Amino acid sequence: MISKKVEEAINRQIKNEEHSARIYMAMASWCETKGLRGAAAFLYKQSDEERMHQLKFVKFLNDRGGYAQLQALDTPNAEYASVLEIFQNVLRHEEFVTAAINEIYAITIEEKDYTTGNFLQWFINEQIEEESTAHTILDKINLVGDDKAGLFHIDKELEAMAAAKTIPALV
Ligand code: FEO
Repeated sequence: MISKKVEEAINRQIKNEEHSARIYMAMASWCETKGLRGAAAFLYKQSDEERMHQLKFVKFLNDRGGYAQLQALDTPNAEYASVLEIFQNVLRHEEFVTAAINEIYAITIEEKDYTTGNFLQWFINEQIEEESTAHTILDKINLVGDDKAGLFHIDKELEAMAAAKTIPALV
C-alpha cells in the first residue's frame, strides 16, 4: 500500500505531465500555423510522449492501491514570438519537471517507499534525455539566429527527429 504523502506527490505529477502534454500541443499548434511543419511534428510527438508519462503514473498509482485523480489545468500560452522562444520554454519546462521528479524521489526516501523510488528511476533517466534534447535543439536555433535558410534546415531536422520517435504502448 502506498502512503498518502507519496500518493499526493504522484497525483501532483500526473497533473504536471498532463499539463506538459497540453503545453506542447499548444506550441505544436502555433508552429503549424506559422509554416514550421517539422517543429510542429516534433512537438506533437512530444505531447504524445507526455500523455504516455501521465498514463504511466496513473497506472502505477492505481496498481499500488492508490487512486489517480485528474485535476483542473491552466490554459497553455497561445502566443510566441519565435521558435527560439518556444524551445527556451521547452527547456525551462523540462527543468521544472526534472525538479518535480527529484522532489517525489526525495519523498519516497523519506517514506522508505523503495518500490516507488525504483519506478521513478525510469523518469529520472528520461529527464536527462529530455533536457539534453531540448539543449541540443536550442543550441542549433541560437547558432542560426534569424537566418531563414538555417531555420528551414533546423525545421527539416526536427521533422526527421519526430519521424524517428516511437512512443511505446503502455497497455
Ligand atoms: Fe514528462 Fe517531458 O517530462
